[in-house]
Amino acid sequence: MTDDVLVVHGGTPLQGQIRVRGAKNLVSKAMVAALLGETPSRLYDVPRIRDVEVVRGLLELHGVKVSDGADDGEIVMDPTNVESASTDEINVHAGSSRIPILLCGPLLHRLGRAFIPDLGGCHIGPRPIDFHIQALREFGAVVDKAPEGMHLSAPNGLKGAKLELPYPSVGATEQVLLTAVRAEGVTELRNAAIEPEIIDLICVLQKMGGIITVHTDRVIEIQGVPKLHGYAHRPIPDRIEAASWAAAALATKGEIEVLGARQADMMTFLNVFRSIGGEFEVTDDRVGRPGVTGAEGGIKFWHPGGDLKPVALETDVHPGFMTDWQQPLVVALTQARGLSIMHETVYEQRLGYTDALNQMGATIQVYRDCLGGTPCRFGRRNFKHSAVIAGPSKLHAADLVIPDLRAGFAHLIAALAAEGTSRVYGVNLINRGYEDFEGKLAALGAHVERL
Ligand code: EPZ
Repeated sequence: MTDDVLVVHGGTPLQGQIRVRGAKNLVSKAMVAALLGETPSRLYDVPRIRDVEVVRGLLELHGVKVSDGADDGEIVMDPTNVESASTDEINVHAGSSRIPILLCGPLLHRLGRAFIPDLGGCHIGPRPIDFHIQALREFGAVVDKAPEGMHLSAPNGLKGAKLELPYPSVGATEQVLLTAVRAEGVTELRNAAIEPEIIDLICVLQKMGGIITVHTDRVIEIQGVPKLHGYAHRPIPDRIEAASWAAAALATKGEIEVLGARQADMMTFLNVFRSIGGEFEVTDDRVGRPGVTGAEGGIKFWHPGGDLKPVALETDVHPGFMTDWQQPLVVALTQARGLSIMHETVYEQRLGYTDALNQMGATIQVYRDCLGGTPCRFGRRNFKHSAVIAGPSKLHAADLVIPDLRAGFAHLIAALAAEGTSRVYGVNLINRGYEDFEGKLAALGAHVERL
């Protein structure tokens, strides 16, 4: 498809200012939470990305009226008349996102039944949903898997449960929160994920009338309440997008100020960025100064010149180094002098994109062993999940096909850093999670055009 190709004339440092809005991985969940309320909810700073469109479509199918509010990026969701949708209508969304699985609890509470289509999302491993199904069953849901998707019912209502996740899964923790908040009695979740997006979802649910306590050691306690009302919420900024642009600044030897980026959510990333020789300045002190309106602060990231330093890293659940920060940063690490190690411990198949970087002149070797850190779940299961990156490498242009969202952005950065003209195929996939990335590239002085 020719309308899905970006021609990138690389070799120019990216310079300038862009802004990130609400985090994709919170906004989509907060939209699902709106289903649980009896009155309308209002969400601000919602990015225009495809994942938001998918959730909006799903909500509308179930009778939620979604409209744009007065502010740019504001949406209003009115769930007064939640209704069942037909399997065929819901299946239009099959394969387009992982979010539908999170509608289980809210739909069971509102309608007593739910149908969930086959899931999509990025192809970065098998991405099973066994933790979700196990948890839903413990709440009392009856789950029937069928070829067209999953049918659920709750003949005796949903009741609080004592649960422990085998791994602190983000999605399964959200599933439990969205189900337990209106279930009868108390739920205790052990080994929960505690990503900032999860804490922000808890804030949303608390605004709606939920009673949720985050204890130490990954324990979350939810006291079920019979009714919830709507919320008004400004989401946390997208720390994955912010880190992606930071990596782009480093890889292209440029300077990018990411307005809206927040230090507290990115501390682990910032430490790594500094260790490899990148510089940053938190600019939130500007907020409130005369002539500055709104949340105009952010973080400015730049390459100070000279060699970058190698690093040994592993991805992990929060507060570790996020798996979604890995791919863009690896592009920057191809420019560090020496050997860097990246041990991916969250997804088993998230290093495939390094083939394309090697095609462009990088020297990256992937291994089945757990390198540079403690052994992980994938070490004995024959997955190539550790990478050794030798640098610095001069990257040259190539024709690239985007495999998934974050790897796609990494491809784009590599093309921008490389000398010469690359063609990046499948570029529309990037719209799933990066709002107006072409506009932002133009603002940063990149030389790109649609084929
Ligand atoms: C969320 O995915 C994000 N997606 C991902 O971002 C992110 O990479 C991931 O969390 C980790 O931070 C959304 O929020 C929409 P998990 P999720 O459940 O919830 C295993 C992006 O690019 N697992 O924490 O699906 C799973 O296979 C995306 O924005 C099970 O085994 O991730 C993985 O190895 C990509 N069984 C690990 O847990 C289950 O039932 C962590 O997955 C569930 C998960």
